[in-house]
Formats: sequence, structure tokens, C-alpha cells
Amino acid sequence: MKQQKIIFSNNVSNAIDDTLGTMDYNRLFVLTDVNTRQFVLERLADNHRLAEAHNITIKSGDVNKNLDSATDVWRELCANGATRKSVMINLGGGMVTDLGGFAASTFKRGIRFINVPTTLLSAVDAAVGGKTGINFRGLKNEIGVFNEADAVIISTKFFNTLPDTEIKSGFAEMLKHGLLKDAETYDRLLTFDFKEDSHEHLLDLLKESVEVKAQIVEQDPHEKGLRRALNLGHTAGHAFESLAMDRKSPIPHGYAVAWGLVVELTLSNMLCGFPSARVQEYASFVLENYGSFHITCNDYDNLLQLMRHDKKSEHGEMNFSLLADVGDVKINCEATADDVKAALDIYRDLLHI
Ligand code: GLY
Repeated sequence: MKQQKIIFSNNVSNAIDDTLGTMDYNRLFVLTDVNTRQFVLERLADNHRLAEAHNITIKSGDVNKNLDSATDVWRELCANGATRKSVMINLGGGMVTDLGGFAASTFKRGIRFINVPTTLLSAVDAAVGGKTGINFRGLKNEIGVFNEADAVIISTKFFNTLPDTEIKSGFAEMLKHGLLKDAETYDRLLTFDFKEDSHEHLLDLLKESVEVKAQIVEQDPHEKGLRRALNLGHTAGHAFESLAMDRKSPIPHGYAVAWGLVVELTLSNMLCGFPSARVQEYASFVLENYGSFHITCNDYDNLLQLMRHDKKSEHGEMNFSLLADVGDVKINCEATADDVKAALDIYRDLLHI
């Protein structure tokens, strides 16, 4: 896979110019959704290259990360003379970078693209690492390809238009990266104050965090092994997300991960010797900043069923990426139904449910 260039800068306009300056291209396309067209593209209106580019705008939201939207993008590329020498900038959250990356990677067997993530969640996760795709027949990311953007331009410049819940949602993935990296990185994240700390400080932490993901992806771009480490917190997190969906009361992805991590750090303690003081410390941070996701023992069978259907579980067992300590990941850990039920009991105690 090609080496992805990751640029951290709050001068996004200059970063776009510098990046495009190194690329020999004929036509430039900018993909936005209806929100980023209104709130983000306008803030880059002084950039001459962007002003001359052809804008493609799609509907927003994960429900529109589908074949119809991809077809719209291909149609616009065709109608406006895109060739193999063209470049597309994906300006938006994970939906735009996933769908735009997929549309670009498949148009004429692949044109170059640049991701400019506009949410913390997409900056720390979706925009980096080459996973592109769309949902299909009710299945998330069912159709897609691994193909890294030529460049990813990461800033915190657009985050002030985001609600607090969006920042906290992305921050949960940063906590996960900190837990995977080392105690020093993780401890720095635990001191972050959502009310007081500046977006410049967040950009520094974000840089460290994205580098954790980039290093893992470099070693295992196609998720044959080590990249599964990035699923830490996600087996339980996805189950919470699906349960919330069934209850017709969806929760933000990162919140589900923050709560899922409480379950999985507890399992890490039970099965891999992860220190219990670290579990308590993490749960306190989550309770203070994310509150809790309410479950009772009547939800356990449903949650276990959802965890068995997680994409990491190949034979109906429950498969987790767990930790022996901060910075010491163990992939492909199997847990029994009794283990997971015990972890869910402890989750409820820790989060005062
Ligand atoms: N979001 C996890 C990964 O990119 O592998």
C-alpha cells in the first residue's frame, strides 16, 4: 500500500495548497455533504484552487452512505470530465471520507484523493488507514476497498461548529489509542478537560493519537492480525450501539466505545491480568464525562447474541481484543458467556447502574 502523508495544521487552506502543489493533476473535485458545504467549504472560500474546483455535494448522514450517493459522485465525475489525472478532496466527517474514498478508488480504477476530516471522530479514525466503503442491504461498510488517501489534512479548526457530544465521541477513540500505546500517552489523555482545554492542545493530543493508528495500519494494512487491536472496546461497544438502535434511542458511536471499553477493560482484568486500579480509574473518567448506558440483566442475552455476531467472531464465539496492561494488547481473546455476564455485572457496578 502507498505511504499516506498525514499533515497536522490549523492552516488548512495552506496545507491544501502545499499538498496540491506537489501533485500533477488536471481537474480538482471537492466532495462535501450538505452540512460541510455550508459550514466548512465557505470557511475556505479564499482558497483559489478550491474556488475553481468542481463541488459535488451529497446528502448527509450514515443512511446516505449508500450506492445511490456513490452513483451520484461517479455521475458528477463523469459529467465534469474527470480523468485518471484528476484529484478529489473529501471534506467532511467519516461518511464523506469513507464514501468519497470508495468512489474515488473505483472511478476509472482509481483516482487520487485527499481526506480533510471535519470531525474529531473522522480525524482520529475514519480518514486515516485506508478503509473506504459504503453500506449495502442494511450491512455497514459491506462494499468497499482498502486504499489510502494520498494525503490526510488534520486540523481542529472546524471543531468549534461541533456539539460537545461529537468531541467526546471522537475522544473515546483517542482513549483507545492511548490504551494501546503506553501509560504516558494514556495518562496525558486522562487529564484532558473538555471545558477548559483549547483546540490547540487537542491538536497535539490528536497528532499523538493518529500516529498510534498509522503505525498499526502500516504493519497490518489489511487487518490480517495486529490491526484487530483497533477493535479494543468495539465488540461490547457495537453491541451497546445495536441495543440502543433497537430501543429507538441511538447513541453516538464514540460513547458506545467509551462504555464498551469499561466492559472490555474489565474482561482484560479477568482474563489477561490488566490492573484493576486502571479499570477503576478509567470507569471514573467515563462516568464523569460520558455518564452511563443503562442496561439490566434482562439485556444480557441480547447483548451476548450481538457480540457473537461481531465481525471478529468467525465461529459464533465471542472474540475480543484485550489488554494485559496499558500498551500490551492481546488479540483474538475468546471469552465465555459467563465471563461476559460477569463483566457486564461489574460494568453496572462501576457506572452506578
Ligand atoms: N476503525 C478501525 C480500523 O480502521 O481498523
